[in-house]
Amino acid sequence: MSTAAIIPAAGLGLRLGGEAPKALREVGGESLLVHAVRGLKAATAADLACFVVAVPAGAEDVVLKQLEPYCEGAHLQVVAGGSERTDSVRVALELVPVDGIDCVLVHDAARSFVPVEVIERVVAAVRAGAPAVVPVVPVTDTIKRVDRDGRVVDTPDRSALVAVQTPQGFEPSVLRRAHAGDVAGATDDAMLCERLGVTVQTVEGSEDAFKVTRPRDLLLAEWLLAERTRS
Ligand code: CTP
Ligand code: MG
Repeated sequence: MSTAAIIPAAGLGLRLGGEAPKALREVGGESLLVHAVRGLKAATAADLACFVVAVPAGAEDVVLKQLEPYCEGAHLQVVAGGSERTDSVRVALELVPVDGIDCVLVHDAARSFVPVEVIERVVAAVRAGAPAVVPVVPVTDTIKRVDRDGRVVDTPDRSALVAVQTPQGFEPSVLRRAHAGDVAGATDDAMLCERLGVTVQTVEGSEDAFKVTRPRDLLLAEWLLAERTRS
């Protein structure tokens, strides 16, 4: 059995700014998307056999050519994404083969430097029977809930809070059911599973799986890449 990876890369990167869409911005001479795909491919225990990448409309051909060299031995498809992240995941999910796939990963192109161990941990948990799996890290800030006027409502116990990363892993039929339902307001795919009453399992994530969101994240990405090249 093999794993399929859906890579939402169709966002505009408004918080990052700049000319190109975020996934096509370069770090160390290669796009964030190339780094993300290469990372997934390096997770050999995950048996990645299929990549479906959602990109901004019009970028399909360029991205297909850009990614082909990194997807050898796997089936690569590039599609135009939708206006929200969930729309991009849904159109990509429709292209994931039904047969021969026992795990579907959904992985943000913007989390380009997720370590191989995290990817393999997620896939292993799905293969061990968890229907939905998310990598998590502890939150370091104190989190407060506030009302519309900016007044603090309460302070949840931080020891019970985690920050969620990608790749998130799913038993394929569970992810299909999750996306067939109401997707309004969902900020990740695990949330759609929670709405179905499906138990979502956590595994240990990594600080290196941070999401490139704002300009300073590009500096962190450059540094991380240089560190990895050195070691
Ligand atoms: N994404 C997508 N389709 C969308 C919106 C987002 O495929 N309509 C993808 C992004 O390309 C990114 C991931 O979802 O890889 C996480 O989204 P985010 O970090 O918010 O990226 P952007 O939406 O591009 O950035 P911003 O919100 O700052 O515009
Ligand atoms: Mg966004």
